[in-house]
Amino acid sequence: MFHLSPSILAADFTRLGEQVNQIEQAGADWVHIDVMDGLFVPSISFGMPVIQSLRPATKLFFDVHLMIQEPIRYIGEFKKAGADLITIHAEACEDIGATIQAIREAGCKVGLSINPETEVSVVEPWISKVDMILLMSVHPGFGGQKFIEETLDKIRAVRSMINGQNPSCDLEVDGGIHLGNVAEVVEAGVNVVVAGTAVFKGDIAQNVAGFRSVMK
Ligand code: DX5
Ligand code: ZN
Repeated sequence: MFHLSPSILAADFTRLGEQVNQIEQAGADWVHIDVMDGLFVPSISFGMPVIQSLRPATKLFFDVHLMIQEPIRYIGEFKKAGADLITIHAEACEDIGATIQAIREAGCKVGLSINPETEVSVVEPWISKVDMILLMSVHPGFGGQKFIEETLDKIRAVRSMINGQNPSCDLEVDGGIHLGNVAEVVEAGVNVVVAGTAVFKGDIAQNVAGFRSVMK
C-alpha cells in the first residue's frame, strides 16, 4: 500500500491547520512532521506543542521524524502529543534496541532512519523489529534540497532485505522528491513518499493529485 506523507516543514505556518486539511482532502493519508533539535542537525524546527495543536484538526496518520540526539528521552512526550509513528535516526542513538522498545511500549509504530552517508547494513539487523525504514535522500536539516541519486541503489538494497525478512515493513524516502522523480523511487521499491516543497509550494490539491497518479 502506498502512502503520501507531505512534510509540513514546507507549509505556511500561519495557515498550518488549513493546509493540513487541504492535503487530507486532496488524498494524502499521512502527514510528515520533521522535528529538529539543532544538535543532530544544524537547524531547529518545532516540537510537541505544534503536534498537539494539529492532532484534533485532522485524521491524517502522524509520521513523526525525529532528527534529534538521543530521542529515547522524549518518546513518551511525542506519543502524548499525538504521534502515530515515531522514526528515529540510527546515528542519533546510543542504544537503538532500547529506543525501538521505548517507542513500542509507548504504543506507537516504529521507524528507523539512516542518513545518506550511512550504509544500509546498519538497518539490516533491525528490519524484523520495526514497522518502517526511512532512507534519507538529502542531508537532513532543511527542506528544498536536491535528491541524492545514490539513494536509488540503497532503496533497491533495502527493499530486497524487507521482502526477505519482514514484507509488511514500509520503506519511506525523504528529501528532494518531486513529480519528476517520484516514479523512479517507487519503481526502486519505496511505498511511502515524503514531499515538502513539491506539495506545499504552488497548488496543494493539484500537487497531491499529481503524486497520487503515480502512487496507486
Ligand atoms: C529534511 C526533512 C525532510 C524535508 C523534505 O531534513 O527530513 O522531510 O522536509 O523536504 P523536501 O521535500 O522539500 O526536500
Ligand atoms: Zn523528514
